[in-house]
Amino acid sequence: MRPMASVSPVAALEPIETASRDEIAALQLSRLKQTLTWVYERVPHYRGKFDAASVHPDDLKDLADLAKFPFSGKQDLRETYPFGMFAVPMDDVVRIHASSGTTGKPTVVGYTAKDIDTWAGIMARSLRAAGGSRRDIFHITHGYGLFTGGLGVHYGAERLGMTVVPISGGQTERQVQLIRDFKATMIIGTPSYMLNIVDEMERLGIDPASTTLERGIFGAEPWGESMRNELQTRLGIAAMDLYGLSEVMGPGVAVECIESRDGPVIWEDHFYPEIIDPQTGEVLPEGSSGELVFTSLTKEALPIVRYRTRDLTRLLPPSARSFRRMDKITGRSDDMLIIRGVNVFPSQIEEQILKVAKLSPHYLLEVSRYGHMDELAVLVEVKPEVASEADKEAASRELQHHIKALIGISTKIHIQTPGSIERSQGKARRVVDKRQKD
Ligand code: DLL
Repeated sequence: MRPMASVSPVAALEPIETASRDEIAALQLSRLKQTLTWVYERVPHYRGKFDAASVHPDDLKDLADLAKFPFSGKQDLRETYPFGMFAVPMDDVVRIHASSGTTGKPTVVGYTAKDIDTWAGIMARSLRAAGGSRRDIFHITHGYGLFTGGLGVHYGAERLGMTVVPISGGQTERQVQLIRDFKATMIIGTPSYMLNIVDEMERLGIDPASTTLERGIFGAEPWGESMRNELQTRLGIAAMDLYGLSEVMGPGVAVECIESRDGPVIWEDHFYPEIIDPQTGEVLPEGSSGELVFTSLTKEALPIVRYRTRDLTRLLPPSARSFRRMDKITGRSDDMLIIRGVNVFPSQIEEQILKVAKLSPHYLLEVSRYGHMDELAVLVEVKPEVASEADKEAASRELQHHIKALIGISTKIHIQTPGSIERSQGKARRVVDKRQKD
């Protein structure tokens, strides 16, 4: 028997998690000042940008003054590739991660020993918020390697005292076997890979709801409430959302609390969020939807100032903790499709697919152009039990109708046989844009 530990998610909260908003704001202000000074003194690229915008760290008198400082983005990391944005000598950097990116060079991020320690602490806090404790057997399907998912989650899980199974991604049949043999109680991965595991269980004749799994924590790609329902129902678990990005730290920037499951709580003592208008860059009033921007408050090796995430969401008031929450990410501004003038995110199509009982959420969107007309084709699998042509035709019509009625675009639906759409081992690829090759 493993020693008992308290499993109440609120039992062991850090004082800052329930602090007053004033205390949080005071901490943020002092940490912001330190961060701005740190980058100005140590990173020529930041100094150049601040000077060009005629701002100095001393200009930050209150939190709203942050809006005077220039944004940063992926292009800053590319211009200074690989290590030019680092604020410490390489001797003090103990780890590198990188994200592949769709074009060109990867984005490289670095951590000091203290950064790794901070990250483990934040990640442990995240896992605890999602209901994790040292009593859990924790199955980690995120990739280990340059991707921040595997190692980032791993150190936090060990810090919390969980029993970690660092299986990483792939070998799905083996994943199913080990979940059962080791009696995993908590699992982490992308929602699309989790679906892949669930399908594999069914293929092997195992009822996914019959495993020992109690909780799942999913992220690294957009997923909506319908997908949460699907995972919670099929697996008989509580499903929590975990958000993060390499440039800001990795997994653990925000997470949903198990008791509320109402949007990820942003760990505002480490990351300062803003929502801006993606077109004008103007900071939007509290509660408006727009692009999420982060400034790190405690990082040493790669402090980041006003980083434009391209993720679209809005800030929500505190609920289970004193920190503000974010709404589920609708999508990335660079993933938005414009079909005959209508803006569409893959997550919106996914939402409609999940409403059709005969369809499975394995899909791919293909955008083509015929003459001047954009065309969106939805390739989607039917559930294995749907065999008759009449049922497939009905499912296709139902989906087409939902998309037209709720999103406002006409689509071509191509019903696929179960298993024919490429399965994700990590982040799913949802869109093939054939227009770019024209
Ligand atoms: O995906 C970090 C991570 C690992 C998060 C494991 C959660 C779990 P990147 O590879 O740099 O880092 O990709 C970051 O992924 O800007 C979002 O577009 C997307 N993303 C991450 N988490 C979520 C989420 C990791 N919960 C990019 N919901 C981000 C929606 C997410 N999108």
